[in-house]
Amino acid sequence: MIELANELGVSSYVFFTCSAAILGFVFYLPIHYNQIGREFETSDSDSIIPAYSHPVPTNVVPSFAFNKYGGYASSLKHATRFKETKGIIVNTFAELEPHAVNQLKSDSETLPIYTAGPLLDLEGKRQDSDCERIMKWLDDQPPSSVVFLCFGSMGSFEPDQLAEMAIAIERSGYRFLWAVRSPPFKDDPTKRMGEYSNLSDVLPEGFLERTENRGLLCGWAPQMEVLAHEAVGGFVSHCGWNSTLESLWYGVPVATWPLYAEQQINAFELVRELELALELKLDYRTENAKNLVMAEEIEKAIRCLMDSENPIRGRVKEMKEMSRKAIQNGGSSFISVGRLIEDIHINKANKA
Ligand SMILES: *[C@@H]1O[C@H](CO)[C@@H](O)[C@H](O)[C@H]1NC(C)=O
Ligand SMILES: *[C@@H]1O[C@H](CO)[C@@H](O)[C@H](O)[C@H]1NC(C)=O
Repeated sequence: MIELANELGVSSYVFFTCSAAILGFVFYLPIHYNQIGREFETSDSDSIIPAYSHPVPTNVVPSFAFNKYGGYASSLKHATRFKETKGIIVNTFAELEPHAVNQLKSDSETLPIYTAGPLLDLEGKRQDSDCERIMKWLDDQPPSSVVFLCFGSMGSFEPDQLAEMAIAIERSGYRFLWAVRSPPFKDDPTKRMGEYSNLSDVLPEGFLERTENRGLLCGWAPQMEVLAHEAVGGFVSHCGWNSTLESLWYGVPVATWPLYAEQQINAFELVRELELALELKLDYRTENAKNLVMAEEIEKAIRCLMDSENPIRGRVKEMKEMSRKAIQNGGSSFISVGRLIEDIHINKANKA
């Protein structure tokens, strides 16, 4: 696209939908390649990546970086090509990732970095009968009493892991809203993942009956509306960047359970760098089928997440206010987008 834009005499910009820290990770790859000469390997020691203030353990490095032709080589190329554009627009805000944003700005030489976030789809509601059922149920629950478990449209678990989760949820005693998705059908891998046709078959015997007065299960949840609801007190999340921005926008604390893509390093950033989330898991990966998370560990995290005294709760509330200020008139992202518009005009004028 950059070449095409050049041919047409049009300025190109990158819109980067992940965090500023991940952009920093991509820019770190050429340095990594110069030092090591190959993709990441699981036995590698921690990496010093400038966009992160702590050394980054190899077990949270994005999966693509371990696979030469499955992502490492192309990301390495992106790191160079991104710098041929007129600037990079990142879906984040300066107050959320101060270290990463400052580091990117000081390190990217003349390449402008524009923080434009949080960009959220606040209007995109899906109204259907299940959505209504969920919101009605939430209306009947006391404030901050419900733990919400949801792992994105691609986030699924095998029955043995679901069973551990069910035991933990039941033992925690908390009210819950749990979005459960099935893995791609084994007998027909062309079928996409979806909803289990009968949850009684995969959850521990009697679970549904015993918890029917304090919990609700669904195959798909209107995540934004759920997070906006005052009944929700905590969110067990896969830490996709959208979900992260959404949970902060509504001030709901997260317990981290990353699954794939760059979610492990997002979880690491939230827990270690920003102290804005509670660690359930940092290094869980869907592709490592053997790493079953046991019920005790999940239960402990849910209790800690829902504890009203947890200091993370206050920090997340502060970040909620900052995320809203960032996009208002005079806020950091507002100013940054203004600068983007000015720079586009200048680039256009220089061409003419
Ligand atoms: C993230 O949110 C944006 C809307 O703000 C949407 O267009 C995009 O598809 C979402 N990405 C994922 C992976 O869900
Ligand atoms: C789901 O499975 C349970 C136990 O296997 C059975 O009792 C129940 O009737 C099934 N429900 C549906 C809707 O098929």
